[in-house]
Amino acid sequence: MEKYVIHGGNRLLGEVTVSGAKNAALAILPAAILSDEPCIIENVPNISDIDYSIKILNHMGVEVKMINHSTLRIDPRKLRHPVVEYDLAKNMRASYYFLGALLGKTKTAKVSLPGGCDLGSRPIDQHLKGFEALGAKVEIDRGMVCLEGDHLLGAKVDFDVVTVGATINIMLAAVKAEGLTILENAAKEPHIVDLANFLNSMGANIIGAGTDVIKIRGVESLHGTQYSVIPDQIEAGTFMVMAAATGGDVLIKNVIPKHLEAVTSKLQKIGAVVEEYDDSIRVVGTGRLEKTTIKTMPHPGFPTDMQPQITTLLTIANGTSMVTESIFDNRFKYVDELRRMGADITVNGKVAVVEGVSRLTGASVKATDLRAGAALIIAGLAASGTTEIEDVFHVERGYENIENKLKGLGADIKKIVTPDSMVLPKVL
Ligand code: UD1
Repeated sequence: MEKYVIHGGNRLLGEVTVSGAKNAALAILPAAILSDEPCIIENVPNISDIDYSIKILNHMGVEVKMINHSTLRIDPRKLRHPVVEYDLAKNMRASYYFLGALLGKTKTAKVSLPGGCDLGSRPIDQHLKGFEALGAKVEIDRGMVCLEGDHLLGAKVDFDVVTVGATINIMLAAVKAEGLTILENAAKEPHIVDLANFLNSMGANIIGAGTDVIKIRGVESLHGTQYSVIPDQIEAGTFMVMAAATGGDVLIKNVIPKHLEAVTSKLQKIGAVVEEYDDSIRVVGTGRLEKTTIKTMPHPGFPTDMQPQITTLLTIANGTSMVTESIFDNRFKYVDELRRMGADITVNGKVAVVEGVSRLTGASVKATDLRAGAALIIAGLAASGTTEIEDVFHVERGYENIENKLKGLGADIKKIVTPDSMVLPKVL
């Protein structure tokens, strides 16, 4: 078992460089199999979700070479096994992007229903509706989603909810379908634009990504490309909150400030200083911050993937804040852990009421999912005393080298590996 031990109270000071965007890379790696030639993909984050994607690609016969720590060469020419079994799919949500990519490439796909963070019910009905609209036959057989589509035809797909995953999956399937596909009520997240740019650089014809109507005119074939993934706006946002929570002064480099507008404006509203530059953002924490109201929304609204981090910051702000989670059913599980550190939070359904306290105190806590883990790190950095965070594998799914990046900013954080035999069994 691995845990982080944090001695809180240090102000974060200095510069940190953000890695490539997890959610963009997790769409772009499967998309590379649509090409008839090898693709070079740069600025890929070194995180465990990417390791899982590479394993899935290898298992299909796709060759993946690491050219340097953030550049991959993906050669799909020997792809022969269009299947993703449960053992490979269970670790991450984005394994379902292989459905769209394989359907587009080989006209058939069998992918186990996905794993990923447990944030409540996460249906895939909109993905299946989109595949069917393109003419694919869809079946669920013993936990596997099975798609067959000998001749995919462009179609109009009007999503019932705004969904990042289904927007990406149907783009992947439609890029080589015959004729025009129109996605209505599409998600507008930066990684959707990044995927469209990547596919277009391979010869696809996609317009409108970043708006709620995306038009995809099918092409017969796609060629190799060299492409650099956008920076991770959630990693950047997490460092912004860390700087504010510790009263620090941090220059966060390799960011696209436009992607962070919702986070920037909230931080400014509660009293932090945020300065935007071309490709960096500086955050200065200025004493005790003020209460606010947050409601998570699809992009360009406040991102649900920043909700646990900002809620943690509000636990030490002055006054009573309200946080409404409107994307996922069950994204407040980390609150029990924060309470162990002295936070005063009451959750009622999708709304958390946060009464600011003057200080959190270190405690032993457990990461329940990726962003919950990031939130507990923020709490540990801001708290007095020592915080031990268990189950850090969740954090390493999505944050590259977070321990060293934080040490570089002056945090007192260490990863400790405890042999499993020393872990006492749970008393039920
Ligand atoms: C993606 C991101 C995740 C982020 C989320 C919302 C990846 C790999 N993950 O997840 O980090 O938190 O977007 O920004 O990019 N829904 C349906 N039916 C469907 C699909 C979704 O009802 O077929 C609902 C979901 O239950 C949820 C909402 O739509 O309430 C949004 O989900 P979606 O945008 O699809 O999230 P993911 O793609 O799973």
